[in-house]
Amino acid sequence: MRMAKKRARQRVAVLISGRGSNMTALIEAAKDDGFPAEIALVLSNRPDAAGLVRARAEGIATAVVDHTAFGKERQALDRQALDRQALDRQAFEQAIDAQLQAHRIDLVCLAGFMRLLTPWLVRRWEGRLINIHPALLLAYKGLNTHERVLAAGEKSHGATVHFVVPEMDSGPIIAQGRVPVHDDDTPDTLAARVLEEEHRLYPLALKLVASGRARMVDGRCVSETHQNARGDLIAPDD
Ligand code: GRF
Repeated sequence: MRMAKKRARQRVAVLISGRGSNMTALIEAAKDDGFPAEIALVLSNRPDAAGLVRARAEGIATAVVDHTAFGKERQALDRQALDRQALDRQAFEQAIDAQLQAHRIDLVCLAGFMRLLTPWLVRRWEGRLINIHPALLLAYKGLNTHERVLAAGEKSHGATVHFVVPEMDSGPIIAQGRVPVHDDDTPDTLAARVLEEEHRLYPLALKLVASGRARMVDGRCVSETHQNARGDLIAPDD
């Protein structure tokens, strides 16, 4: 009798810039032998990112690709300066890509990675690069989502995991989780509620992608689980 071949665990890199609480949630989830991915690398653009300490303590390989080593953001707008800036960015992303290759990475999770990626790196990893955003996309792209949600008087808020495409916070949605907004919320209390949801959501979304149950096909998320009428939204509730 032929045994079904077990799919190898996917080797995941988590890219961080700071405390890395989502990274920690992914590390914890991947400790389960049944989880379809292992965290093989944590990479930061900041040498002082607190998440690096945690990753090292867990025995996970870490790498730092310090963006400041590739040139400061330049104010001057002359042609030469702009060309230099583009070259710096390309070199920064090539250094990241080299680390991903060296560690034989299959999937990349952005988790509070505070650098915008250019289409070059995004396209290289398209369909294998996911991000968590602290809002219910497509609403509230960008920064300071909790402040803006409160200012708009929204009654609910949440988090989204999506495939990364060149346009920021616009890729096909893999999973979303909703939380209520309370009348007495401050940006901090709301952020804490959303973060808790993020820690639930990101491992679920990674599990879907790493197991092949959610895939990016022709710019859409195709999933074998809970799809909505548009076929692009999974709302995991387990
Ligand atoms: C999270 O809110 C995430 O959604 C956003 O940046 C924050 C990172 O937090 N992209 P942490 O470093 O994972 O704790």
